[in-house]
Formats: sequence, C-alpha cells, structure tokens
Amino acid sequence: MGRKEEHIVGLDVGSMKVSTLIAAARESGLQPLGLGVAESKGIKKGSVVNLEAVAESIKRSVGEAEAMAGCEIETVYVGLAGPHIKSFNSRGVTSILTRMREINRDDVRRAIETARAIALSPDREIIHILPQEFTVDDQSGIGDPLGMVGTRLEVNVHIVTSSTTAAQNIVTAVNRSGLLVGDTVLESIAAGEAILTDDEKELGCVLVDIGGGKTNIAIYHHGAVRHTVVVPLGGELFTSDIAVGLRTSIPEAERIKSEHGCALSSMLETDKVFEVAGMGSRHHRTIAQTVLSDIIQPRAEEIVHLVRNEIRNGGYERQAGAGVVLTGGGSMLRGFVELAENILDLPVRIGTSTGFQESLLEKVPQLMGPEFATVTGLVLHGDRRRKTRDFHENSHSGFKKFVEIFRSFL
Ligand SMILES: Nc1ncnc2c1ncn2[C@@H]1O[C@H](COP(=O)(O)OP(=O)(O)OP(=O)(O)O)[C@@H](O)[C@H]1O
Ligand SMILES: [Mg+2]
Repeated sequence: MGRKEEHIVGLDVGSMKVSTLIAAARESGLQPLGLGVAESKGIKKGSVVNLEAVAESIKRSVGEAEAMAGCEIETVYVGLAGPHIKSFNSRGVTSILTRMREINRDDVRRAIETARAIALSPDREIIHILPQEFTVDDQSGIGDPLGMVGTRLEVNVHIVTSSTTAAQNIVTAVNRSGLLVGDTVLESIAAGEAILTDDEKELGCVLVDIGGGKTNIAIYHHGAVRHTVVVPLGGELFTSDIAVGLRTSIPEAERIKSEHGCALSSMLETDKVFEVAGMGSRHHRTIAQTVLSDIIQPRAEEIVHLVRNEIRNGGYERQAGAGVVLTGGGSMLRGFVELAENILDLPVRIGTSTGFQESLLEKVPQLMGPEFATVTGLVLHGDRRRKTRDFHENSHSGFKKFVEIFRSFL
C-alpha cells in the first residue's frame, strides 16, 4: 500500500492579503490543489497589531483553500518578515581533531554551531542559518565539504534573526486559527525559492518583493544568500499618496493606481486622461495621467534608491550580474521595471513562480502572478523539508547534496 498523499501548505500573512496554498506531494511533482485569499486584517508592516483579527483572516483564507482542495489541513509553513528582522553574516570554525580524515556531517554541524554562537539579546531568536561556503584548511569557496580531507573546517553563514515576540505573535495567530506551524520562513527566502533560477543565484542577483506594507530584499551570489533586509515601504504608500493628491477615497485610489498608474512618466502619452470619482457628492473629474505619474514616480524612485543603497552599502555591485528580480503585487505597477533599470543600470525582470509545471496549474492559474511568489515558495520550502526528512528516514549513507545538508540545520 502506498502512503497517504501528503499535503504541503504555505501560509503568507501579508499586509494586504492572507494567502494559503495547498499542494499535494506526488511522484510526478507538486500539484497545487487549492488557493485561498482573504483580506488581511490586524497586520501592519509585517507585525501583528490585533491577534484575533489576524486569526480570523487566516481562518477565512485557509477555509477557502480547503474548500477548493477538498481536504482539511493541520500544519502550515508560514512566512515571516517585518522591520524587526535583522540579518548578518558570521563565520564558524572547527578542527578535525586527532588526525587528518574525511570531513563528516558532525564536523559540518559543529562548524555551523560555532557560527551561531553569537551574542544575541534575549528578545531575539535565530530563524535561519544559511551556509554560504566552506573552507577546508587553505582551500576556500567549497560548496560541499563532505568527504574532503582536512584538519580545519571553516564556514561562512548568513544568519537571519527575528524579534521573539513578533515571531511568536504570528505563530499564536496561526494556532488560534486551529493550525500548527511546521516552520517559519523569511518571506524573501521563500519567494527566492519560487522565482529565482539556479543561474541567477549563482551569478548573483537581487530579489525585491514589493508588497503592500513592506519591501523584502534578498541578495544572492554563488548560490547562497548574502544579504537580507525588510523595509517598511510598499504599495500602500502609493495608494495613500494618490488618495491625498487626487482628493479621493482609498478604494478609488487603489483602482486608479492599478488601471492608470505608471512609475515612469516618460513612458506616457502626454494627452491621456482618466476619470476620478469625487469624495461624497462631488462630481467626477478628469485628470491627466502625467499628473498621476508625478505622484507615483517619487515613491517608486524612493524604493529603487533604497534597493541601490542596500546593494552599494554591502559592496554587492559586482555580485549582481544577473540583475534584479522584482516580485510582489507592487511590482505590477506599470513602468516599475523600466524605472528600476534606469536607476540601477542592471537588467530587471518581474519574477513569477516557476515551482509548478504549467500543466499542473489548471486549477489555480492565479499562482503565476507575482503576488503569490511568497506563498508558492513556502510550499516549495515545505516540500524540501519533507524530502530531507524522508532522506533521513530512508538513508544512513550520508548526504549527497549540499542543500540537503544545510536544510537539516535550518
Ligand atoms: N496592477 C497593479 N499595479 C500597481 N500596484 C498593484 C497592482 N496590483 C497589486 N498592486 C499592489 O500590490 C500591493 C499588494 O501586494 P502583495 O499582495 O504582494 O502584498 P502583501 O503580500 O499582502 O503585503 P506585504 O508583503 O507587504 O506584507 C498593494 O499595495 C496593491 O495596491
Ligand atoms: Mg508579501
């Protein structure tokens, strides 16, 4: 008898929407079964401000996904992000005692343990330790040191930490909605799993997830995460600027942004106009698209300048050869790609999920939108965790792939 089909569930509690994706782990690959999207309440810029409201939004989103998938779920992989996230690089070292011998899993684990031995204030916790590369004696730049011979093993890692209370609040909200948390994953790392190619990660690229309340940035090079940061700027700001600038309601500003907004005024035909509903009993007005663009462009530039600063301050200019990959709902603003290309002088593309074969997407074609990159990545992360676990259960012969090793440390 085959095993019962396993379901892997991603839960992205965003500032604007809570998305739940249920996928079945089948031999042919991951099959998306159900997607639920509910308006997000009780979250501000990645932090819980009203626990009950968040739990309610999660319930609605999960309920919708369950109804579509025709199953009930128990455990979710949940995304974490917010300005409370702080990341840095660290280094660990261990000696291969007694005599020169082959490096084994315990050596790798010990090296990583020493890298995590950093002074952390009591209100913070580590959510990821992501190995970048190993050095065996004098040979650096090693991806997988297992089986190599040496006396000293060093490892460079990227460590992501979170405020303990902020992480706990999300977990509590999930629990209150009747679910268990399988793992918490930094949103940008989840999105990276869904949209970046191996070549991009190897050559070096910058992932920029522009959401409603925040922008998540992750820089990759030589296949590993080098830098991550979360900034409290997102699409909501464009909307509120438009509402103030055009004296209209937030829902109307949101509509105008999606239908007529453009981040680069030079892309517009000068005589194009659109209608704006007035507040209360005021009449509709006709506004030129260039006026709208004058409101939007400075905000878009602010976000791109921020990305440029993160690249420059960390000295990553030469390590972003594959360019910038924009994702998240905010990246759908017309002209954003062109604006970012102009300012950053790097190739820029919009990243959408590549984790599922297109033929499997019949049930949930919306998953191809950039606003679902994070939830897709959470499912892919969960699937990797499952495979690593199966690998542990089924094999005593050691690990073959480096990625499988470090997943077990996360
Ligand atoms: N076509 C569009 N043009 C411009 N902006 C858009 C478009 N579609 C969606 N957006 C914006 O994308 C934002 C929502 O993005 P997304 O769904 O990725 O956010 P989220 O994941 O809920 O929030 P966060 O990641 O900040 O917690 C909103 O500000 C929305 O206005
Ligand atoms: Mg998001």
